Amino acid sequence: MTPQLRHMLRDDDLNHEEQKQVLELAIKFHQDRFYRRPFDGPQAVAVLFDKPSTRTRSSFSIGVAELGGYPLVIDKSGSQLGRGEPVADTARVLDRMAYGVVWRTFGQANVEEMARYSTHPVVNALTDDFHPCQILADFQTIAEHRGGVDNLSNQTIAYLGDAANNMSNSYLLGGAVAGMDVRVAGPQGFLPRPDIVEDAKRIAAETGGSITVTTDPRAAVDGADCVFTDTWVSMGEEAEYAIRSKPFWDYQVNDELMALAKPDALFQHCLPAYRGKEVTSSVIDGPQSVVWDEAGNRLHAQKALLTWLTGMARGDESLLA
Ligand code: CP
Ligand code: NVA
Repeated sequence: MTPQLRHMLRDDDLNHEEQKQVLELAIKFHQDRFYRRPFDGPQAVAVLFDKPSTRTRSSFSIGVAELGGYPLVIDKSGSQLGRGEPVADTARVLDRMAYGVVWRTFGQANVEEMARYSTHPVVNALTDDFHPCQILADFQTIAEHRGGVDNLSNQTIAYLGDAANNMSNSYLLGGAVAGMDVRVAGPQGFLPRPDIVEDAKRIAAETGGSITVTTDPRAAVDGADCVFTDTWVSMGEEAEYAIRSKPFWDYQVNDELMALAKPDALFQHCLPAYRGKEVTSSVIDGPQSVVWDEAGNRLHAQKALLTWLTGMARGDESLLA
């Protein structure tokens, strides 16, 4: 197998078969935490944060350690990157020491620039545009509750709320890659960018999925297998709190909306959640909610992703399955 440097900057960086491979691997890591140890050494992976995090920080720190490696976690406030050192310079330094870079940042251009100067895999740990690691954990959770990865393409998923944010974009692309029927609903002014919808539709046409963008929350949820939501105010948008408190109330995931989905529909939320805003406590703390499985799967899905990317980079087929 020829070595191939691959990055995970947006959800469509994996094709249908590759996404399946990573999710199968994630389920194996869930069954056996120490299934593969590609970073035995320990080899270091740099994990950079320009925004706060609980789940991503803990899952990558613990995950890299469980893969036999050393997680070098750096916050913006403690790095020269935070004082304006160019991304390209930081990339070339880290590249000489670490075996991969994981970065939570603002602009998508940042992770793209990091990848341009890296000879090791770069992973997007959330940007303003995408959160691909979360989608892998979410789809692993569906697969585990729905009889396996092969059943993902039969699923109809509905995302409600801020349909212009990173989660919405990632459900569109990731769901299209999986061959799902993807519906996203949000108010006018908070709908996804046309280029992302076009990309999702092009991919869905190849995988047998479909893409629906609507302002009608009831139509989106009707008969869905899984309902998702997210905060109405993402990190970096705190100044918009006042203007973001009004338009989303019709999209709150409550018992009435959940009743329109399939009777056994799952509820997921990437967390952190704001009970009484985007979701009621009756739903997130209710019997259809799988949010704790979802959060736990961040660990397994990201270990699978890092192992798969490392297998590709090294040309080591044994790390792909
Ligand atoms: N869902 C998620 O990425 O959570 P954190 O912001 O806590 O990392
Ligand atoms: N859309 C949210 C996701 C948090 C994990 C944000 O970007 O803040």
